[in-house]
Amino acid sequence: MTRPNDADRPPPETTSFGFREVSADARQGLVNEVFATVAERYDLMNDLMSAGLHRLWKGDLVTWLNPPHGSQPFRHLDVAGGTGDIALRVLATSGAGVASVICDISPEMLAVGRRKVADAGLTGRIDLVEGNAEALPFPSKSFDAYTIAFGIRNVTHIDRALAEAYRVLKPGGRFLCLEFSHVDVPMLDRLYDFHSFEVIPRLGKLAAGAAEPYQYLVESIRRFPTQEAFAAMIRMAGFERVAYRNLTGGIAAIHSGWRL
Ligand SMILES: C[S@@+](CC[C@H](N)C(=O)[O-])C[C@H]1O[C@@H](n2cnc3c(N)ncnc32)[C@H](O)[C@@H]1O
Repeated sequence: MTRPNDADRPPPETTSFGFREVSADARQGLVNEVFATVAERYDLMNDLMSAGLHRLWKGDLVTWLNPPHGSQPFRHLDVAGGTGDIALRVLATSGAGVASVICDISPEMLAVGRRKVADAGLTGRIDLVEGNAEALPFPSKSFDAYTIAFGIRNVTHIDRALAEAYRVLKPGGRFLCLEFSHVDVPMLDRLYDFHSFEVIPRLGKLAAGAAEPYQYLVESIRRFPTQEAFAAMIRMAGFERVAYRNLTGGIAAIHSGWRL
């Protein structure tokens, strides 16, 4: 029954969770369930599902970032940093002045990341902080570089995450985003569809005991904006000199922008 003032209330905001429509308020909780479920097997599944390609793509991101090799201070923030791959790579290829912060909303993913950071003997140079990309727990203008790898498509309001990236970067700071994108090579797109919808969920069931989280992962990739549309969103957030590079025919892409 409609109560008198129901009509005055705006309808609840809805958004996509994979191919399902859910309320925007509920979405982050569903995403968190996915990563809580997959955290312990996340690295293994990444290797299996991408046949190791994610390692090359992450290497490309760090090469493009080109962190300083000297001892000058350089603060790097890796948002949705999960199990720590990007921060660990950044520190492996940079000078003594570089320090990283991994920020992720999932305590389960951060727990795996914390173990890897300790195993690498980098506890003093990598901090791990629980936080939401849409409301980062850091002061404005506090980082020289912001990276996010395979993270932004999981965020409910991408525009808010981009605004936060801009806020926390110092003027002259660099934004780099690695994300699955849209294949632009004939035939590869069909092969990729088959791999995404037939192979990955089955692989998830076999290797990790659950198909649903992997079904969400492939569906969320298809919902993510095209390379050009995402570049436009980055410009809208205030970034300049926005550019992108396709990786492996557009299966993934790296977007770059500067806070000038
Ligand atoms: C596919 S994993 C990527 C992990 C890591 N960056 C990598 O490349 O291996 C996505 C990560 O995004 C995190 N995440 C999802 N929503 C987030 C949000 N709103 N804020 C911060 N992290 C979020 C998840 O917890 C998960 O660790």
